[in-house]
Amino acid sequence: MWVKLKAVSLSSTLSFLLIGISLVAAAPRCYDTGNFTTNSTYAKNRDLILASLPPNASANGGFFTTSVGLNSDQVYALAMCRGDFTPDDCYSCVNSSIYELMANCPNQKEASSWTGDYCVVHYADRSIFGTLELDPTVAMYNTGDITSNLTDFDTVWQSLINNVVSNASNGSSSLKYATGEADFGVFQRIYSQVQCTPDLSQQDCDSCLRKSASDYVSCCNGKQGGVIQKPNCYFRWDLYPFYVAKAFTTAPECYETGNFTTDSTYGKNRDLILASLPPNVSANGGFLNATIGQNSNKVYAVGMCRGDSLDLCSTCLNFTIDNLIASCPNQLEALSWGGDFLCLVHYANRKFYGILERDPVKEVSNYAGEFTLDLTEFDMVWESLMVRLVTNASNGSSSLKYATGEANITVSQKIYTLMQCTPDLSQWDCNTCLRVSADDYKNCCHGKGGGYVKRPNCIFRWDLNRFYVYNASTAVLSLTPPSTPGSSPPIITKGKYASAG
Ligand SMILES: *[C@@H]1O[C@H](CO)[C@@H](O)[C@H](O)[C@H]1NC(C)=O
Ligand SMILES: *[C@@H]1O[C@H](CO)[C@@H](O)[C@H](O)[C@H]1NC(C)=O
Ligand SMILES: *[C@@H]1O[C@H](CO)[C@@H](O)[C@H](O)[C@H]1NC(C)=O
Ligand SMILES: *[C@@H]1O[C@H](CO)[C@@H](O)[C@H](O)[C@H]1NC(C)=O
Ligand SMILES: *[C@@H]1O[C@H](CO)[C@@H](O)[C@H](O)[C@H]1NC(C)=O
Ligand SMILES: *[C@@H]1O[C@H](CO)[C@@H](O)[C@H](O)[C@H]1NC(C)=O
Ligand SMILES: *[C@@H]1O[C@H](CO)[C@@H](O)[C@H](O)[C@H]1NC(C)=O
Ligand SMILES: *[C@@H]1O[C@H](CO)[C@@H](O)[C@H](O)[C@H]1NC(C)=O
Ligand SMILES: *[C@@H]1O[C@H](CO)[C@@H](O)[C@H](O)[C@H]1NC(C)=O
Ligand SMILES: *[C@@H]1O[C@H](CO)[C@@H](O)[C@H](O)[C@H]1NC(C)=O
Ligand SMILES: *[C@@H]1O[C@H](CO)[C@@H](O)[C@H](O)[C@H]1NC(C)=O
Ligand SMILES: *[C@@H]1O[C@H](CO)[C@@H](O)[C@H](O)[C@H]1NC(C)=O
Repeated sequence: MWVKLKAVSLSSTLSFLLIGISLVAAAPRCYDTGNFTTNSTYAKNRDLILASLPPNASANGGFFTTSVGLNSDQVYALAMCRGDFTPDDCYSCVNSSIYELMANCPNQKEASSWTGDYCVVHYADRSIFGTLELDPTVAMYNTGDITSNLTDFDTVWQSLINNVVSNASNGSSSLKYATGEADFGVFQRIYSQVQCTPDLSQQDCDSCLRKSASDYVSCCNGKQGGVIQKPNCYFRWDLYPFYVAKAFTTAPECYETGNFTTDSTYGKNRDLILASLPPNVSANGGFLNATIGQNSNKVYAVGMCRGDSLDLCSTCLNFTIDNLIASCPNQLEALSWGGDFLCLVHYANRKFYGILERDPVKEVSNYAGEFTLDLTEFDMVWESLMVRLVTNASNGSSSLKYATGEANITVSQKIYTLMQCTPDLSQWDCNTCLRVSADDYKNCCHGKGGGYVKRPNCIFRWDLNRFYVYNASTAVLSLTPPSTPGSSPPIITKGKYASAG
């Protein structure tokens, strides 16, 4: 079950950790290589250098090295943020890491902190730049097991990791970072993300990441995900998107309701309001509406992030908006679901807040493969799960209407479903949007092993592999179908298919 990443030991030098699903907990490590005294010059230099890290790392693309002081009072420090962090994410990650370090390592001459979500801060009384250090190592794994053929899985996994490691090592002296995805068999998608401190040479970065991959294999092969952290590199893979996978952004919908002209006030307003969304939506808990301008230059906009992925919210919106503007350069209205449906952006020259819109709709079955299980039994479980999740999602609040759930279809195989409405919809409208979407899916793609239906106000997706973050409110259904709920809104007639298949 993807509840906790559990720490494992690779050697006696390892630390033991229990880190929650979001991996946000910082892990300060105080080295036992010497202490300084309170109010000493070293102490002052350390505090000075730590304070300089958040602004400088965020202003320098997520990586910064510096040193302060002379001789025995000289302090060296390094900070690095995850390659896809925005400057704001980077600032706050490094900022909270330095507070953790100061609180946990009050007088140690050397200390480092890695937060899983993810940034590194390391300071020392010795030069630490450009030097590959393979220890200490922290290893964590997802407690779920791979249920597919492991031999086949390993082949795909190994080839993906080889590729993504080469891509990261091949990076620049300011960024050595890569992500990559691979589809495994019919039903699984592997996400991987690796990064080195870019002061390492290509060869050292490569060694660091390959050692991490082999550490992972020796401790945790067969699990559904894992993390290996070393002082100079970071290695993570999983079966759900824990970063914004740009490859999976579905094409934006550019509405054909009119265009604005280049340099018009409407165009400027659009760009302004969209640029305000990434920070504002994440600060507002994952949903926000906003307007700008007057009369015919008024732009209405909405941004939403997936209920389990608020940590990726601003990154996803940033990417999705840049992509939306590039794809729909002068349309008065456009909409896009980005990064494997991690976020939604919609803007228009009309008020659409709180209004259920059935079109544009897109139904897609993820996979070419046909489903081989007994469909009658499967359908019963599938239907029960859909009914439960439609209810759970539409019963949500005015700031979040989101539900996930899973149910067994065989002893070893489950189905996984996610539903979300923009929370400006009423309970009734959200219920309708999701029910219609589940029915649309059935009509287009019954018999396939996974798929999604997206509309302007709701997303429905199911798969044979968990693709969301499991949490306490994820519904877990037994095989017994629940009783039919009392009153449900009528099914509205189906909207036009944008495309299917
Ligand atoms: C440094 O101080 C810590 C307490 O903060 C102590 O546990 C440790 O033994 C000291 N290490 C050295 C090398 O003096
Ligand atoms: C450190 O300096 C502060 C203020 O300058 C003072 O209050 C404190 O007593 C000093 N601590 C030690 C251990 O010298
Ligand atoms: C680091 O940050 C400090 C304070 O914000 C600033 O004065 C300094 O110029 C920065 N250094 C570099 C190299 O960016
Ligand atoms: C940095 O972190 C500290 C401690 O968590 C917090 O009090 C402070 O407001 C943060 N500073 C900024 C600029 O975010
Ligand atoms: C896994 O697949 C390999 C080759 O693709 C096959 O040789 C092996 O028997 C399979 N293992 C299981 C347990 O099905
Ligand atoms: C390394 O990067 C350069 C450009 O940045 C590219 O031309 C080259 O193909 C890359 N090599 C590999 C092995 O990815
Ligand atoms: C590695 O980089 C190359 C060139 O940019 C790209 O074609 C390839 O898809 C990348 N590999 C992965 C696993 O992302
Ligand atoms: C709007 O502009 C696009 C090109 O960006 C063009 O294809 C489309 O026909 C235009 N629509 C209208 C209604 O003018
Ligand atoms: C959104 O961000 C802008 C600055 O980009 C700010 O002026 C505005 O007050 C924010 N709005 C909300 C609702 O947070
Ligand atoms: C996304 O981030 C890039 C780099 O930080 C920035 O140049 C761009 O303006 C951002 N776009 C939006 C819509 O925030
Ligand atoms: C924005 O949201 C508020 C509720 O948070 C709502 O009252 C208001 O009508 C919305 N504004 C627009 C222009 O849609
Ligand atoms: C459901 O799946 C779990 C493993 O994920 C298994 O332990 C359990 O027995 C299954 N339940 C049924 C009713 O098949």
